[in-house]
Amino acid sequence: MSVSQERLLSVRDLTVTYESGRAMQWRRSPVKAIDGVSFDVRPGETLGLVGESGSGKSTIGRSILRLADVSGGTIDFDGLDVTALGRRTPLSYRRAVQAVFQDPASSLNPRHVVSTAVTTPLRRHGVGDAAAREEAAAAAFERVGLSRAHLSRLPSELSGGQRQRVAIARALALEPRLIVCDEAVSALDVSTQSQIINLLADLQESTGMSYLFVTHDLRIVRHISHRVAVMHAGRLVELAPVEQLFDSPRHPYTRSLLAASPATHPTGRERRRSHRANYRPNHHGPEIVRGEEGCPFRNRCASVMEVCRTKTPPLRELADGGRVACHLYGEEGRTVEGGPHRGKGRGKGGGRGSTGEG
Ligand SMILES: Nc1ncnc2c1ncn2[C@@H]1O[C@H](COP(=O)(O)OP(=O)(O)OP(=O)(O)O)[C@@H](O)[C@H]1O
Ligand code: SF4
Ligand SMILES: [Mg+2]
Repeated sequence: MSVSQERLLSVRDLTVTYESGRAMQWRRSPVKAIDGVSFDVRPGETLGLVGESGSGKSTIGRSILRLADVSGGTIDFDGLDVTALGRRTPLSYRRAVQAVFQDPASSLNPRHVVSTAVTTPLRRHGVGDAAAREEAAAAAFERVGLSRAHLSRLPSELSGGQRQRVAIARALALEPRLIVCDEAVSALDVSTQSQIINLLADLQESTGMSYLFVTHDLRIVRHISHRVAVMHAGRLVELAPVEQLFDSPRHPYTRSLLAASPATHPTGRERRRSHRANYRPNHHGPEIVRGEEGCPFRNRCASVMEVCRTKTPPLRELADGGRVACHLYGEEGRTVEGGPHRGKGRGKGGGRGSTGEG
């Protein structure tokens, strides 16, 4: 299945502010969880969304699913401005955009046989009569590798991987055009993870649907994504095709994220060396500087410059279509003086897409 260049979903300047921090947090002031994020998802594409814990990945997914209130910006789905509709999203949208979360056990009723996980949403969406819905559930189960015998099991009688297949069958039966997968395989063991990832890839191949794939696991994102978006402190800092992001990451935060991951450096020694080249020890204030002008990563960035303290870098498009929010990449996507390819770091990385080179 090839990925089209059209847009299925267009997110523009999305901002989400939680009025108060989580109850457990001692400081309960408004939290800008998402700050001016823009990206597209194309038909048939998997867009991976990565970043450290608290960077806002799930909040983006929840905004698209209309589970979080959006404070600014727009979410356009195939020509429909979803944000303008408030909570009154049409049934057609709620059918077209489905979710698969980390823990299916929490969304499956422990007292109901798992076929109802498929038949209940079908009933809500007015699909067929009871017999037709049972048949649809059996067909969906077959497509995700479960048998008819599984239909009448209780969630507790299934393994974690089988429960996740039920969650996928539930989404699939509604014939969605986009599935938001939030840490959908994170709770599974490695071999079950790859089975579910392969299943998702096969289903995409046969249906042409898109995935927004939220995860903190770079190994998985590298395997499943066509393009990858990197979040840091509620902002999108880099977006690029998957090979480009892993072979020549541009943003210093992306570099430090990859440097710390076995997905890019199989040996621990290489990992430590690469990490040191990208990430300064924290002698310079908080890890993340939120709510002020300047780059939120400046206290940790090994390439920090004077401008980084006063100006927040916008997300800029580079000549090769990659996007990055960092002052090392100047106005026209040209790597400015002191840019990464002049420094030590990962020589292979910076500025490859800049207009001045190749
Ligand atoms: N319901 C909520 N109320 C208040 N603050 C919230 C709420 N949900 C999330 N936040 C805050 O918003 C920010 C982004 O959270 P989010 O859950 O989107 O991050 P994440 O990238 O998905 O993290 P993780 O990898 O841990 O799942 C965090 O600072 C978090 O504490
Ligand atoms: S803008 Fe400056 S501080 Fe921020 S990542 Fe780029 S070089 Fe580092
Ligand atoms: Mg999350």
